[in-house]
Amino acid sequence: QLENERKIWTEKEFQHTFPKRSAYDHKGDHGKGLIIGGSANMPGALGLTTRAALRSGAGLVTAGTTDKVIQRIATFCPEATFLTLPEENDHLQYNDEIEYAKFDAVALGIGMGREATSRPIIRQAASSKLPLIIDGDGLTHLKEDLTVLDGKEEPVILTPHPGEMAMLLELSIKDVLMRPFYYAKKFAEDYNVYVVLKGAFTIITTPEGKQAVNVSGNAGLAKGGSGDVLTGIILTMIMQKQSIFEGLCNACFIHGKSADLLVQGQHSEHDLLASDVIEGVSLVYRTFL
Ligand code: APR
Ligand code: MG
Repeated sequence: QLENERKIWTEKEFQHTFPKRSAYDHKGDHGKGLIIGGSANMPGALGLTTRAALRSGAGLVTAGTTDKVIQRIATFCPEATFLTLPEENDHLQYNDEIEYAKFDAVALGIGMGREATSRPIIRQAASSKLPLIIDGDGLTHLKEDLTVLDGKEEPVILTPHPGEMAMLLELSIKDVLMRPFYYAKKFAEDYNVYVVLKGAFTIITTPEGKQAVNVSGNAGLAKGGSGDVLTGIILTMIMQKQSIFEGLCNACFIHGKSADLLVQGQHSEHDLLASDVIEGVSLVYRTFL
């Protein structure tokens, strides 16, 4: 019973649930993802998320950010398209011109900073009829007004590390780490969201309280940028023909397994970079699919 409630997601589950491609696929079959974030001091984060979404198999990926950030990341992700959003003080500013209907899912918050003028973007994205992933600084904005989630029918996925989970719950990090399953489930049920509580082990929780654990990954991931890569993989996975729960578990598996295969090969935990983890997705696919 306990095992059913907290399934360990291994290569077996990955292989059983990961959707196959058909010879007649076109790019619309693999999702059009929109990624909103970035700010002058954190341009790379958005580049990592965008490239990770592309490398893991999205059909089309659009990065919505300021002109300056676009200039700095465009060559890192040549397959992406860009949406220039207005800025103020080097941060994104709210505007109502984003055509959410053109996309299948949105990831929001990556490297966007915590300027209050950016905050209304969260409500706007939540009111779109799309599945929504909120990461990084987006979680800090969300905490300022959790009512933006009220009445949202499409899936909402939050991807906190323990510090962000503690911030959302108004607890200490120590509290969260003492009872990570309990707190992730409590927040997921209270706010009707999926929670991906990241760490050396990552706990995936559905709004109904079903939980799984990902055990792939290693200390090479304990570096800035790893989380941004995971968000890109999650965006792609939730646009494929699998349930949101399976998609989240598979995304965490791919992310960690990429790091594991890389440190068994050309890299070590010391030198592994988030950008290597993106390229390692190819190894995961070639090894397990
Ligand atoms: N073993 C396995 N996986 C790990 C380990 C580990 N020892 N350490 C980290 N990871 C994985 C996590 O599971 C997660 O998927 O790496 C990823 C780290 O994600 P984040 O904590 O979101 O890190 P990131 O956003 O890339 O960078 C840290 O977060 O709090 C902010 O401002 C802070 O800039 C900093 C940023
Ligand atoms: Mg992060």
